[in-house]
Amino acid sequence: MTEKKLSPNYYQNIPVYRPKGIPQKILQKFGINGLINLASNENPLGPSPKALLIMQEALKKSFLYPEPLLKKLSKSLSDKLNIPENYLHFGNGIEEILVHLSNAFIHSGDHVVLSNMTFPLYSNNNKFRQANESIVPLDSNFIYDLKAIKKEITTETKLVYLCNSNNPTGTYFTKEALDKFLLSLPEDLIVIYDEAYFEYADAPDYPDGMDYLKKHKNFIITRTFSKFYALAGLRVGYSIQRPKLTECLDHVKSLYSNNFIGEVGAIESLKDQSHTQKTKQMNIEGKAQFLKELNSFDIKIHPTQANFFMIQTSLDALDLSSQLLNQGIIVCPLTTFGIKDAIRVTIGTSKENEFFFQSLKKVLS
Ligand SMILES: Cc1ncc(COP(=O)(O)O)c(C=O)c1O
Repeated sequence: MTEKKLSPNYYQNIPVYRPKGIPQKILQKFGINGLINLASNENPLGPSPKALLIMQEALKKSFLYPEPLLKKLSKSLSDKLNIPENYLHFGNGIEEILVHLSNAFIHSGDHVVLSNMTFPLYSNNNKFRQANESIVPLDSNFIYDLKAIKKEITTETKLVYLCNSNNPTGTYFTKEALDKFLLSLPEDLIVIYDEAYFEYADAPDYPDGMDYLKKHKNFIITRTFSKFYALAGLRVGYSIQRPKLTECLDHVKSLYSNNFIGEVGAIESLKDQSHTQKTKQMNIEGKAQFLKELNSFDIKIHPTQANFFMIQTSLDALDLSSQLLNQGIIVCPLTTFGIKDAIRVTIGTSKENEFFFQSLKKVLS
């Protein structure tokens, strides 16, 4: 008897999106808490202390199911952003929202346009939906090439992904570029505008996605509490779009994919301005520290509008990452993004950054 196929054949060509594990011998050398992780763009300050207290209290209610539409967080965000609550959709991080987006909108064979060297889950989800992808290279400065993307869009195109600031490069496109891009696009085109790092952006010409909800009918912004608000482990993401689209997205959401510990933590994090100010300041100082320490090196450090840097060196990225790991630092080699000589490094605390600079100097000398 032939065995039944467990999953369709085309699944086999879809990359598995998982971070590589840390080798046992490295874990033994440094102990579980002895490694410095600068690979995941987390906020090293940790969550707001006020959020932590509220979350500890909320744990006592863990025997209850959460409220599925996160009404309390919805109210907080709608007040903060000055939009009606039916503009908001929630998910277990942006990761899950991206699944909602592709389940809600992409049919097999739909034409989808995206960039290469960007957040890998856009393409993974497209592949699960059997979309027909056009992939456009970043420009020579590793910036989203909106002109080239626009050339790929036809009246048949269903959806386009934009990531600003881009992961893994940290680069951004300007408000002027986005304004031009959005002119004369097919009316029904869905534009997904991923702003996972927007709270860190401080360039005067960095666009605010909120300005485009009125201008373009199917504009969808994705945001997260994982990065700036330091709640990556609790998985709270949201998207902002017109109510008709919210309905489609809520339709495909599983009932309890968010939990109320994350919900109360997110609400308190939004309120705690002293903590958000600390995070902002730490990132500004960390950016300056990187530029001061590394500019004199024979390496290329790309300008960033996020909480990480892309750094190109003369070494192979896998080799460099493994040498840094031997010294106790985890960074992300960009080999799987097709950039063989670059690593992505999260801006850590001043002490972590200093340790990274010293380790990098050792490896490169
Ligand atoms: C650009 C971008 N979008 C989305 C995500 C996923 O974020 P979340 O933790 O909310 O799932 C990440 C995470 O690294 C990211 O870099």
